[in-house]
Formats: sequence, C-alpha cells, structure tokens
Amino acid sequence: VDMKEKFRPQYHFSPESNWMNDPNGMVYYAGEYHLFYQHHPYGTTWGPMHWGHAVSKDLIHWDHHPIALAPDEHGDIFSGSVVVDWNDSTGFFKGASGLVAIFTHADQYPDSDRSRQRQSLAYSTDCGRTWTKYEGNPVLAEESITDFRDPKVFWHEETHKWIMILAAGNHVRFYASHNLKSWEFASEFGSHSGSHAGVWECPDIFKLPVVGVENTSKWVMIVSIGNDSAFIEGSRTQYFIGQFDGISFTNENSDDTVLWLDYGRDNYAGVTWSDISHEDGRRIFIGWMSNWKYANETPTVGWRSAVTLPRELTLKETSDGVRLIQTPVAELEKIRREKRSWNQLFIEPGKHVSLDVSGEQSEIIAEFELESATEFGIKIRKSDSEETIIGYDAVNEFLFINRINSGVTEFNEYFPCLHGASLKAENNRIKLHILVDSSSVEIFANNGQVVITDLIFPDPKSTGIELYTTNKKVKLASLVIVQLASIF
Ligand code: FRU
Repeated sequence: VDMKEKFRPQYHFSPESNWMNDPNGMVYYAGEYHLFYQHHPYGTTWGPMHWGHAVSKDLIHWDHHPIALAPDEHGDIFSGSVVVDWNDSTGFFKGASGLVAIFTHADQYPDSDRSRQRQSLAYSTDCGRTWTKYEGNPVLAEESITDFRDPKVFWHEETHKWIMILAAGNHVRFYASHNLKSWEFASEFGSHSGSHAGVWECPDIFKLPVVGVENTSKWVMIVSIGNDSAFIEGSRTQYFIGQFDGISFTNENSDDTVLWLDYGRDNYAGVTWSDISHEDGRRIFIGWMSNWKYANETPTVGWRSAVTLPRELTLKETSDGVRLIQTPVAELEKIRREKRSWNQLFIEPGKHVSLDVSGEQSEIIAEFELESATEFGIKIRKSDSEETIIGYDAVNEFLFINRINSGVTEFNEYFPCLHGASLKAENNRIKLHILVDSSSVEIFANNGQVVITDLIFPDPKSTGIELYTTNKKVKLASLVIVQLASIF
C-alpha cells in the first residue's frame, strides 16, 4: 500500500487500494465516526460494488477496516445509509442498540437484462466491525421504477417513524416504517423541481436551524444529479430548502430555482452523518471528489478517488433567501502546522508576488479589498510550467478556478477547464478560504456561501503560491498560509 503515491491526498480520506465512489452509511456511534464507501476491491475502475469501511475518532485520521458488505445472491451493494437503532425497533439487538445499514441491492430481473434495484438491510452488534444481512431481504421493491436506489433513513421524532428518502429516476420518494423492515409509501417530490440535467441519485434530508433567526428551522434536501452526455459539467449536486412534515416535502423556492451545493466539478454523491445530533448537534457532509465524466480515468496509480474534507453545514439568511453554508470541520485544527501571515499587501499589475512558502498541502485564507481591480487572485501548485488559478473577475462578479494548465489534464477532454460561480463582494471584500492537497482544491468563498471543489494533478514539485492582478492594483487586507500535516 502506497500512501505516498504522488497524487495520494495527504489529509483527505482515500481507499488504501483500488476504486472508491460514493461515501455511504456515515454514522456516529460509541465515540466513532464511521465512513463506508462504494468500493471495488479488485480493480481501480468501477466494478462489482462492495461497502468499504473506515473509522475515525476525529474526522481527520482514518483507520481502514475490512470490507463491511460484499455482493450476495441479491446482487451488488450500491449506496445507502446507516442508522443507530437506539430502541431495537428491528428486534436485531435483543433490546440493546446497534447499527442498521439500509442499502440498495443491484442485480438484474431474471431472464432479462433490465437492471433491478431493491432496498435491503444488514445489521451490526459490534460497532460496525461485522455485519449480518437480514434474512428477509430485500425489504422494499418497486418493479415499475428502474432507477430506484440510494436510501437515506432517519428517525422522524415528530411522527415517531423511520423515514426513508431515495432516488427514483427523476424524483425522490419517501417511505415510512416502524421497524425498518416494512415500508409504506408516503410521497414523492421533484419531477418538476430543480435541475434535471441527469438522473437523480443519493438524496439526503435533514432539519437545520437558520443561524441568527430565532425559532426558525428549515429542511434541506440534497440531491445529486448524474452525468448526462448533453452537459459538459457532468455529475453535480443540488439542494432544496423547505419543510418536511413526516409525509411530504414542500419546496420554499420556485420549481425553476436551482441551488448548487458546489460549483466545482468534483463534489458528487455527498450525504451527511447520521446521529451526530446526540453528541454535538453538527450536520457534517462529505462528498465524493470526482465526476462520472472522467472518474475512471484519473491518473492515480493503485488507488482511485477520495472524498472532500468533512464540512459542517449551516443555514443562513441571505438577500436571496435562506442558503446552505459550508465550512471545513473544526477538527482540521489537528493538522495545522507552521503559519505565516501578512497584512496590507499591495499587488501591482505585472508584478506577481510569489510567496516563499511551499503549498503542497496547505490552507490559504485571503481577504482581498477590491478598490478598482478588475481581475485578481491566487495561483497555487505553481511551477514554471504549471499553475492552478483561483481568480475573481470583479467586472462580472465571478469567482473561478482555471485548471487548464494545472498538471496532468489530458486523460479526458472534459478535465482541462475554467469554471466558477457568481459571487458578490461584501463590504467591497472577497474572502477566500482554500484547502490544497496533493490532487485537490476546495475553495470556500465569503465564509462558505459559495464553494468550488476541483481535482488537479500537478507535479509534486509544483508547490509555488503566487498573487496576481491583471490591470489595476489590488489590496490584500490579510493573508494567512498554514501548512497542513500529512495524516499518514
Ligand atoms: C452515484 C451512484 C449511485 C449508486 C452508486 C453505484 O455515484 O451511481 O446512484 O448507488 O453510484 O456505485
């Protein structure tokens, strides 16, 4: 196992070897954060799906565990969730509590090649170390729906029921249960709402308080939309804001409003941890850092794909309405090392300021004061021949990442690109919080209101960090660069 392969993330979770896609079944139980994931243990491309497993005490350092779920007579093990069955509603735990996985079994209808996706259970009485599949599997099937997968289950306190949300082609469906074994259809949502640029996958739903607004909570629904050849962006993740009453979801925005969770190309199939609320109330998200457009072709050796840094999700009232805010989890503190800071730096056009710090694994926090600058930003993972540009186009109020010349890009025609998101200055300032690792960049702009997550594959020696402005000087009110330690 080579944890120092040149593109291996040094502080993001990745499988020890071979392929991963979606994070699955994240749950907090008995002092441990569990992360399961779509895993092909015998190859570096997508194949018969298993659930890989890792455990952490701090969301940063991970121990690799044996495969939790392997294919069986009902098929391969697609995405799903894990809940803590606190009151033994399943009867699996002899009155105690334990973990129940609810996942999609994927196979084919007998005598046809139409794919069949049904929901099944497995349980663990030893804190996730070993799993037993339920003998009554599958527990939920709908023959008329072909794409019927990725169940996320949670306990709905108000109605005292387990609720399942799952993807069903171009919408999500809700089912309710008292024991996780028998499920009743409750409602569906979304055939005419949000983006339909691809098939809907990997939904999640949870309630969050609106920060600073007393007694106001809203439900957030996350829906990933699959790669459709008609769209250059490939896989993306959207979200909805509204209310959920135990039966149905009401969207508070118009049907044609599309809210993107991430404006980068590489944050897909993300969902949140179950059962953290019992401990500290945070809602923590992790996404798969890749894109079905090119996921099977990225230039890593012996392993493929990683996840985003765990991010805390909160809701904030903005001038456009209530929006999702993302911030790296506070535990990142554990790997912060040498710190350098600068105040009141002026950047002049044509005079690029290179900083004598190396940025292979680093955190950059920059606050720019716009004045009359038209385009400025930070170049990272820079050498004479490579750079990734994180820029702000002040004329069009557009934050972008340009990875056209970021390193290895030719493995897929859609990889080299420039893209971004609308972003308005606040008090004439733009604030960027950037996390750089061996093969990824995560940009949290204006305190996490706009997020861009992208893969890059620079040479390990391309570690320069440089500030630039195109034709007017710009003031950097403050800049902090922190070296991040490897978790290996
Ligand atoms: C999303 C997805 C899920 C499915 C899994 C299969 O990336 O397509 O819908 O369960 O991957 O690996």
